[in-house]
Amino acid sequence: MSSPIHRTTIHDFRTMKERKQHIAMVTCYDFPTARIVDETGFPALLVGDSLGMVVHGFDSTLRVTLDMMIHHSAAVARGAKKAMIIIDLPFATYSASDLRTSLETARRAMQEGGAQAVKVEGGRRMAPVVGALVASGIPVMGHIGLTPQSIHMIGGYRVQGRSEEAAERLIAAAKALEKAGAFSVVLELVPAPLAQHISSLLSIPTIGIGAGSGCDGQIQVFHDIMGLYEDFLPKHAKRYALLANEIRGALKRYHDDVVSGSFPGPEHSFDR
Ligand code: KIV
Repeated sequence: MSSPIHRTTIHDFRTMKERKQHIAMVTCYDFPTARIVDETGFPALLVGDSLGMVVHGFDSTLRVTLDMMIHHSAAVARGAKKAMIIIDLPFATYSASDLRTSLETARRAMQEGGAQAVKVEGGRRMAPVVGALVASGIPVMGHIGLTPQSIHMIGGYRVQGRSEEAAERLIAAAKALEKAGAFSVVLELVPAPLAQHISSLLSIPTIGIGAGSGCDGQIQVFHDIMGLYEDFLPKHAKRYALLANEIRGALKRYHDDVVSGSFPGPEHSFDR
């Protein structure tokens, strides 16, 4: 009998931190991409609520619903067999003032979305939510710094933790999330020295996006690094492909073949 496929666990995350192995992560929103991400060897992927912006064209993540998250996550779960699947709990579906609803949201995300862990945005105020979910056997990734679900409180997509006071708040938030049982914390748009400092204080891995190289791992949004939006590239992202160009070129060739009558050829057709 062949041995079962090993899927990354939260214990592997901790081991990777102990061994100082950088953790590479990427967002993923659909079945074919999940297969490729999984084959490439990423230990974990995030079904991020960024899908509201990069897949659905919304101007923020606020309109993403739990049903949308589950729909995408279930497709990803059918494609990724080895990577740990982490799903974002979307805007206003969890809060410290309603732990019962938070638990129900996470239950649906895990059971219907097929994820192995959830991610919640927010600092110290989110510690009770993390604690309640972890107590129910749900692995939780925290997310501090720029938290897009609070964009209207923050007032814009900008670097967080620049003042001494804000830096102290982020340090306290990271510690509170670790204490509450989070297995990892995303640091988004945090000055690199501060992110490095936070990473050195925690025994759980930090995953950075726009937080410099001192984090234990990195995450990027798939559409950013694959160049699906030619007119926009955040400062923290690096393009590894220009897929928009590739797709346009391929579509143009297909379009022209149909118009000129050179597709389909006999090899694409059936005699009877
Ligand atoms: O939704 C998302 O893609 C995220 C990452 C940017 C960390 O939360």
